[in-house]
Amino acid sequence: MALQLLALNFLLVLVPLLGAQAQEDTGPKTQGVPRETEMCQKPSWDTRLRLAPDQEEYSRNEEVMLSCPKGFEPSFTHIKCSREVQSISTGKPVYREVWMGKGTGGAWTRIRSMVECVEAFQVVPGTLDASTTSIKLNWTCSLPDACERMQATCRLAGPSSPPCEAEEVTGQEMLHGQNGTFTCNHLQPFTDYSVTISVPPSTILFTWVIRTEETVPEKPERLWLDASTGTLRWQALPSCKGEILGYQLNVTTRGPQDGGFLQVERLMLSSSVTEQPLPAHGPGTSYTVAVRGLTAAGAGAALLEEFQTNSSETPDPPDVSSRLVRDISPSRGMAVLPLRPITWVPEAGSKHQLLVAATHNGTALEGACSGELQPFNASRPPDAYVAAVLNLTAPTAFVLGDGTHGHGFHNAPLRPGWDYTALLRLVRRSQQEETFTCVCYSFSVVAGQPPGSWTGIVTGVVVLLLLLLLFAGIVWFVLSRRRKAVPIKAKENN
Ligand SMILES: *[C@@H]1O[C@H](CO)[C@@H](O)[C@H](O)[C@H]1NC(C)=O
Ligand SMILES: *[C@@H]1O[C@H](CO)[C@@H](O)[C@H](O)[C@H]1NC(C)=O
Ligand SMILES: *[C@@H]1O[C@H](CO)[C@@H](O)[C@H](O)[C@H]1NC(C)=O
Ligand SMILES: *[C@@H]1O[C@H](CO)[C@@H](O)[C@H](O)[C@H]1NC(C)=O
Ligand SMILES: *[C@@H]1O[C@H](CO)[C@@H](O)[C@H](O)[C@H]1NC(C)=O
Ligand SMILES: *[C@@H]1O[C@H](CO)[C@@H](O)[C@H](O)[C@H]1NC(C)=O
Ligand SMILES: *[C@@H]1O[C@H](CO)[C@@H](O)[C@H](O)[C@H]1NC(C)=O
Repeated sequence: MALQLLALNFLLVLVPLLGAQAQEDTGPKTQGVPRETEMCQKPSWDTRLRLAPDQEEYSRNEEVMLSCPKGFEPSFTHIKCSREVQSISTGKPVYREVWMGKGTGGAWTRIRSMVECVEAFQVVPGTLDASTTSIKLNWTCSLPDACERMQATCRLAGPSSPPCEAEEVTGQEMLHGQNGTFTCNHLQPFTDYSVTISVPPSTILFTWVIRTEETVPEKPERLWLDASTGTLRWQALPSCKGEILGYQLNVTTRGPQDGGFLQVERLMLSSSVTEQPLPAHGPGTSYTVAVRGLTAAGAGAALLEEFQTNSSETPDPPDVSSRLVRDISPSRGMAVLPLRPITWVPEAGSKHQLLVAATHNGTALEGACSGELQPFNASRPPDAYVAAVLNLTAPTAFVLGDGTHGHGFHNAPLRPGWDYTALLRLVRRSQQEETFTCVCYSFSVVAGQPPGSWTGIVTGVVVLLLLLLLFAGIVWFVLSRRRKAVPIKAKENN
């Protein structure tokens, strides 16, 4: 018990002592009356500050130079140890040590806050931005002294090499003031540029390599047919405007004249592929091929070429004999189509679609053959529509225009006086490929008007003729009565 009391006493004595000690530490560094030194302690400001000379104590009026790590500036570059009167004690001034700093204009001012290393120049975070042809950044400069004579440049980050030759740019600009925007224009897409902001001759405030955005690739230069193998080839595109991700290849195949055969193939090929076999369809087949490159920014312009087969070595074509349409019944808006399954796309199954387009125009038919499914819409008659979906496994006579509904499609009656093409279509789809194969049946629903209007016209003409005859009869009757009346009158006068 006595020992515990002793410990408590000891603590009670110690606490005020510790408190006094702490106060002395945090309090202003007064030059105590007993210590008549004329020294300043090394200031404990920003730990990044470098002092030259670097000492623990500095004598009065000693000048010290301050510096900061690269890219930073001290808020005072020169300081000196000084003293000021803190109070008057028994008629004598009591001094305390202070630091003075050399401000703009060279005058010494009392440093009241900490001296810090501040970022003299800053690119506003999030503003360094590249488009396909320009680089932009917003900057701020917090210390006018340090930010004079700033120069911003942008140039190619590396040497340009074929096939992607980029022109050197001479984007150079002096930066003035405390903030602004630096822009570098007329740049090439998908190219590395270095942006540097410096204070000549050798202080670099900011430097960064940035790549301009990708854009769509160029049009491919060459597309040719290797006739011996029936293979299409094209020249690979360089990744100058963006990384080439692949090629889009569209092949439209038309059967021999009036064969009624049409095939639209759309392929997505990887960037390493530069050839593709043409679908073989025998002599007289013509092909329209379009190829374009793809980058992350999208598809470029397409190169278009036409080819024609006339080699007898190609296998015999599938049965594409002339597509005759018999039994057209204009009055009832129907036509009988001799449909045969499209057998040369076995993977596609037997689900055929029967499309109807109110045209004989080949371009429009190609569009219809590769178009989306659309049901009949009476208010948009020229659009191609799906009349029926058929499970076709054997030749079938199909009545088009019988007005039936099935699978959500309307086999609408045909309109007299219109040109029509019915397209029997088979579609095959995979991830990289889409093939639309169509057999076309073109016909016209002739004999302009339905019988009703014919009789109308005939009746009209007959009625008109009868009316004219009646009118003529009346005129003749009236005139003949007058002639008879004149002699009677004359007799009466006599
Ligand atoms: C930019 O500097 C001007 C003066 O040079 C000042 O008025 C403006 O407030 C500054 N803007 C920013 C965002 O610092
Ligand atoms: C960058 O500066 C431009 C004009 O100089 C200004 O319109 C834009 O708002 C600034 N952007 C940011 C993020 O400060
Ligand atoms: C291929 O056809 C599709 C659909 O019509 C089209 O979007 C694409 O641009 C075409 N590609 C080429 C290379 O013509
Ligand atoms: C077809 O014949 C024409 C000239 O008759 C020729 O220029 C063309 O190369 C031939 N095409 C093929 C695929 O043989
Ligand atoms: C065929 O249709 C296309 C558009 O679908 C049109 O540009 C072209 O002029 C038409 N040709 C004829 C001969 O009507
Ligand atoms: C038919 O076309 C008209 C006009 O484009 C449209 O407003 C209407 O919704 C369509 N009807 C059907 C059933 O799609
Ligand atoms: C199509 O018809 C064939 C024979 O008529 C039949 O075996 C097959 O199951 C049918 N397919 C479909 C999807 O209805």
